[in-house]
Amino acid sequence: MCGALRPSDAGKKVVLMGWVNRRRDLGSIIFVDLRDRTGVTQVVFNRELNAAVHDKAEDLRNEFVIAAIGTVKKRDADTINPNIPTGEVELVTEELRILNVSKQLPFLPSDTVLANEEMRLKYRYIDLRRDAMQFNIELRHKVALAIRDNLASQGFFEIETPFMTRSTPEGARDYLVPSRVQPGSFYALPQSPQLFKQILMISGFDKYFQIVRCFRDEDLRADRQPEFTQIDLEMSYPQPERVWEVVEGFLTAAFKAAGHEIKTPFPRMDYDDAIRQYGIDKPDLRLPAFTDVRDCFTPADLEQLAINKDLPVIAIRTPGVGELSRKERDDIKPLFVSKGGARVFEDFKRIENKFAEAGAKVRQKTGAAADDLLVLVVGSAQAGKTPGRDDHPAAKRKVTPAELAIYASAGILRVALAQKYADRHGIFQKSGDPGKDFRFLWVTNFPMFEYDEADRRWVAAHHPFTSPHDEDMDKLESDPAMVRALAYDVVLNGTELGSGSVRIHRQDIQRKIFHALGMTEEEARSRFGFFLEALEYGTPPHGGIALGLDRIVMILAGADSLREVIPFPKTAAAKDLMVEAPTPVAEGQLRELGIGVVVKK
Ligand code: AMO
Repeated sequence: MCGALRPSDAGKKVVLMGWVNRRRDLGSIIFVDLRDRTGVTQVVFNRELNAAVHDKAEDLRNEFVIAAIGTVKKRDADTINPNIPTGEVELVTEELRILNVSKQLPFLPSDTVLANEEMRLKYRYIDLRRDAMQFNIELRHKVALAIRDNLASQGFFEIETPFMTRSTPEGARDYLVPSRVQPGSFYALPQSPQLFKQILMISGFDKYFQIVRCFRDEDLRADRQPEFTQIDLEMSYPQPERVWEVVEGFLTAAFKAAGHEIKTPFPRMDYDDAIRQYGIDKPDLRLPAFTDVRDCFTPADLEQLAINKDLPVIAIRTPGVGELSRKERDDIKPLFVSKGGARVFEDFKRIENKFAEAGAKVRQKTGAAADDLLVLVVGSAQAGKTPGRDDHPAAKRKVTPAELAIYASAGILRVALAQKYADRHGIFQKSGDPGKDFRFLWVTNFPMFEYDEADRRWVAAHHPFTSPHDEDMDKLESDPAMVRALAYDVVLNGTELGSGSVRIHRQDIQRKIFHALGMTEEEARSRFGFFLEALEYGTPPHGGIALGLDRIVMILAGADSLREVIPFPKTAAAKDLMVEAPTPVAEGQLRELGIGVVVKK
């Protein structure tokens, strides 16, 4: 292979096959960097040594595929390339076979400046030849293999579940597949194997896993693809801690395969604490938590600043940003997303000048160093006073809806500031940094239900098969707002890697949940009837989790988008630019399926 030869191979006769990565023609000598998956080797064509082969090498162009047969030679000291593992040797070619030619390429795998993403995706086969993509795809392979091995060694069976199935309960839109033999009927591609894996517990396969493709028709972002891969698992009789132990085990193996040591067990945090300290249920622990500094101000200060004294006053500290110019302070404003009447004070200096005592207390309470940026997020006088707020169905929660709005606004700004000033604080290292900071976290004790303001009803925060806490069972009907779920998320550096729960295994409780969700018995039967029936035939207690493989590899690769770690990804408009999918289909095919297409104007 092109990455294999070392000085100890000098004198050996070898055959190298690969692509012409780069060709330098010095007249009587031609150098070719020959590339394959494993690296590059310098191949030399010397007219003085072999005129016929040298002549042939004059025809070589970028990305021609060749076989070079020759003898390995140590390079002279002054021509050694210390930057590549094969840099001390070269191949002196005695025979050259051109296995294939290449048209002029739209961009080269060896280009140092990246082509635009549309080109990269259209010509994905060329893009995938680049070192960075070869690295990412190999990394993905190694990580998946380590996970598979680890789960098998923990006694899990990998079991396949159908892709042509019916709607699953994850709450996004389904991709549908029409049935030809039953016109008007459709399969749904699974959003996850959720119900099948629970059925497998009912079937006695007490430890299941699958590295499995899932399909969701949802709005796409950098960390969401319409088809993506889950590491999905389920086990019988577990406490949440047992599931966490399994996950920590395979993540340790996966990160080790990528060259990183991680520490287990991961810290744990209640959902309510995550919201109060970070304003989000997937906190990035690399950055400081925020601080409620309401008590640093006197009631008169708060009044003068038109700050709502009944709501938190959140100080966000971003380390090492230094003093901001007026223009830079103005740039902060568009980063702020105000929920429920939250306001931002981006000019902390001005508050300090006017309210010296409060300012000093805030600095002390937040532990802010002189070059840390402090920004306050507060409730305006109107915040939380919207008519009807006090009898909001979630008003009794530890974190009330009005407080949640302030925390959430501050949570978004905290991350946006850290991203904007990443160069100044250096907390977010770049890919491949040794000792990369991986801050894992289990977030637990989520509320069971979320209130859907638009539909004015409770919806399942995870999915409707998640078990409530034992202590909260009696509140299911009387006080759904206060019911906690036996659900957990695993978070890494501010990204949700995975989500899971202990499930409901008793049909009477399942019925109560559907009722609390405002689903009639009939609706529940029509959507999940087969599953509800299965629950009635001796279902063991069970629970599990699913992690996004693409997200894990993305973080390990230091990439900013899942597209960098998926060989053939889709664009934000859910298109595959290489094969040009989706496409219209022939009239005849539609007729056979009994489908008529109505194009919306
Ligand atoms: P959930 O819907 O939270 O849970 O998904 C689990 C994990 O899958 C990944 N993920 C995605 N990755 C890329 N693109 C997407 N569109 C996408 N959607 C989800 C995330 C997420 O944390 N059946 C439950 C799990 C369970 O309860 O066992 C489920 O699917 O990393």
